[in-house]
Amino acid sequence: MKDPHFIPPNVHLDRSFAQLRGWIEDKRPTSVVVIMDRMTERHCLPLLSPHLPPGTQFLGLSQIGEPNKTLEHAHAIWDSLDGIGMDRHGLLISLGGGTITDLGAFVASTYLRGVNSWLIPTTLLGMVDASVGGKTGVNFNGLKNRIGTFQTAQGISINPGFLGTLPPREIANGWAEHVKHRLIHSVQGVQDLLGMQPAHAEAASLESAILDSVRIKQHIVEEDPLEQNGNRKVLNFGHTIGHAFESWAMDNEADLKHGEAIAWGMRVALKMSELRPDCPGAPAGHFEEVSHYIASAVPISCPVPDAAALWALMQSDKKNVGGRVQVVLLNGFGCPVPHAEVDFEHLNAAINALTPA
Ligand SMILES: NC(=O)c1ccc[n+]([C@@H]2O[C@H](COP(=O)([O-])OP(=O)(O)OC[C@H]3O[C@@H](n4cnc5c(N)ncnc54)[C@H](O)[C@@H]3O)[C@@H](O)[C@H]2O)c1
Repeated sequence: MKDPHFIPPNVHLDRSFAQLRGWIEDKRPTSVVVIMDRMTERHCLPLLSPHLPPGTQFLGLSQIGEPNKTLEHAHAIWDSLDGIGMDRHGLLISLGGGTITDLGAFVASTYLRGVNSWLIPTTLLGMVDASVGGKTGVNFNGLKNRIGTFQTAQGISINPGFLGTLPPREIANGWAEHVKHRLIHSVQGVQDLLGMQPAHAEAASLESAILDSVRIKQHIVEEDPLEQNGNRKVLNFGHTIGHAFESWAMDNEADLKHGEAIAWGMRVALKMSELRPDCPGAPAGHFEEVSHYIASAVPISCPVPDAAALWALMQSDKKNVGGRVQVVLLNGFGCPVPHAEVDFEHLNAAINALTPA
């Protein structure tokens, strides 16, 4: 029987980077390279650099955020690693939010067929979700995470001290993935959630939210590490719709963060669940309170696409099977339905119910 409170051995609450230092002393990597973006170079590197060995090299990306997650940036880093002469015993440290850890882990998993990878998430979203579970990836052809791999990082150092410089909007952004974990996990988790607002959360509540999320995600990932038997798919709750919204935002230069897209995607998926006769645990109005909670905890400021635009993008989702669009619905809190087939009318009805004309 698995322990639901288990924290994976490669994830460390590592305020003084003792685990990272210990690994480096033990394994003596032939080179150490840190990748980061401009913001994490400014705000996070000063906390980390005293703990890095002499000779560490730094690759700062000129972009910040999502535009970094491209094959072009991966190519540029592969080039730099060639220039540095990293061999298979080198260590690539990714210091940043989910975009940097997704990109850095992707580069580490492909360069020389895999070099050592250590992730240091610096956003709440990175700590509660993106750095855990072994998925790496870059966006491609305007679609999210189109190219990617699975790779277990040698270590993941979570230091909640980084959250001190994160703007409130980014805290709310990360909160969305924490909400997702609670919705798919348990009724009690949702009841506790409704009293918490990320904008006013104390450091201790954020830390406990991070650990809860890591435990819930790990519990699910362990059942299906490579997303082969479908169990892991429940982590995709809100994501098929959210990713389509994000791709639409990228195409239309709308100001939308990943967690915000997922928050809206979850609200649509909750409404779709209520509209399904095969989700008897979700009668009409069942998710009303939590949907309002999500809208207030993770507000979005950009316009939302119409159902037709969203549907066109959802049809390209990599998790579809045989061209049929599948999303995760909820038959009550803690009861995800991983392979619910949906059609345009169903999506349209849910969006109309959420955004009455
Ligand atoms: N691999 C996975 O399983 C997984 C899961 C969820 C999300 N993701 C990915 O995560 C990405 C989103 O990650 P994100 O929300 O962390 O975005 P992000 O990496 O773009 O970071 C958000 C912003 O915060 C800045 N920043 C980072 N740390 C900071 C700090 N401590 N202080 C001040 N500013 C800081 C960044 O420079 C950026 O501008 C998406 O691309 C998504 O697809 C991956």
